[in-house]
Amino acid sequence: MIEKLEQIKKDALKDISECSDEVTLNNVKSKYVGKKSVFNEIMANMSSLSNEEKREVGSKSNEVRNEITAAIDAQLKKIKDEELNKKLEEDKIDITLPSKKRKVGTRHPLTIVREEIEDLFISMGYDVVDGPEVETDKYCFEMLNLPKDHPARDAQDSFYITDEMLLRTQTSAVQIRSMLANQEKKPFKLICPGKTYRRDDDDATHSHQFSQIEGLVVGENISLSDLKGTLETFAKKMFGEHREIRFRASYFPFTEPSYEVDVSCFKCDGKGCNICKGTGWIEILGSGMVHPNVLENCGFDHKKYQGFAFGVGVERVASLKYGVNNMRDYFTNDYRFLKNFDRKEL
Ligand code: DAH
Repeated sequence: MIEKLEQIKKDALKDISECSDEVTLNNVKSKYVGKKSVFNEIMANMSSLSNEEKREVGSKSNEVRNEITAAIDAQLKKIKDEELNKKLEEDKIDITLPSKKRKVGTRHPLTIVREEIEDLFISMGYDVVDGPEVETDKYCFEMLNLPKDHPARDAQDSFYITDEMLLRTQTSAVQIRSMLANQEKKPFKLICPGKTYRRDDDDATHSHQFSQIEGLVVGENISLSDLKGTLETFAKKMFGEHREIRFRASYFPFTEPSYEVDVSCFKCDGKGCNICKGTGWIEILGSGMVHPNVLENCGFDHKKYQGFAFGVGVERVASLKYGVNNMRDYFTNDYRFLKNFDRKEL
């Protein structure tokens, strides 16, 4: 029996060492140390042995059993270690590989132009203010000298929310807000950049949402030459040092006199080209001296105070500067368009 136990041990250790996965090892385990293992047979024959032999076989059998169990445990650990190493090898990260380039967003051309205009006016001592996009009819039209039946309202087809509330069609509404907020009637200079809305069908030259920058200066002894000097500085900064401007008489209900302002064409220098449609001039904004009615509506004595105002379309300035000829490009967020405005890092 002792030889038999030795043989079992020999077979078991051989079987165990040949196991390369957990399932096979478990089968081997139940064969040698499970409930129906080869030891059962030995136990069954024990009764025929003398006491002395029983002790000897019993102790040998325990010894063999322990050795087999230890071998199984060791083999199991070996299998697990191998699995882990294999997995680590498979998951290995090569940190020397070049990384995938991420497409980083760029500043939007409208933001670039808006900030450029803001910087210019800040440098001239202007405040930059904000106004609500949902505006009252009173501030957007009525107090700007556009009563309900005024024909000029037709030019600004509006999104009304209620009879008295609408999405502002022009940042000019902020003129009223800023004058009403200025109870002490201190002189002030401000610009208000912001979104505006009109019921236009979107196409290459129209968008129901666009942006304007309103300018307003109110104080004593403000004259048309102040307006002219300011807009000249603006035109030179945005379109080049050699630009000239011209005032064309126009009509806006909230200014008197009113002007549309043209800048000499930056492409042909006034000779005439496709950008200026052969005229040598490009229209850039509307402006004028604040209408006495508007000053009075806001509690400013028009005999004592004067003001000038102007409104610039940001998309228009950006399109002229960058040669963008489809308004929709500003709103579709196509990376191929936007990446052209990337700042180059040196
Ligand atoms: N609000 C005008 C528009 O949207 C633009 C404008 C014209 C603003 C003359 C002004 C101004 O402040 O004085 O068409």
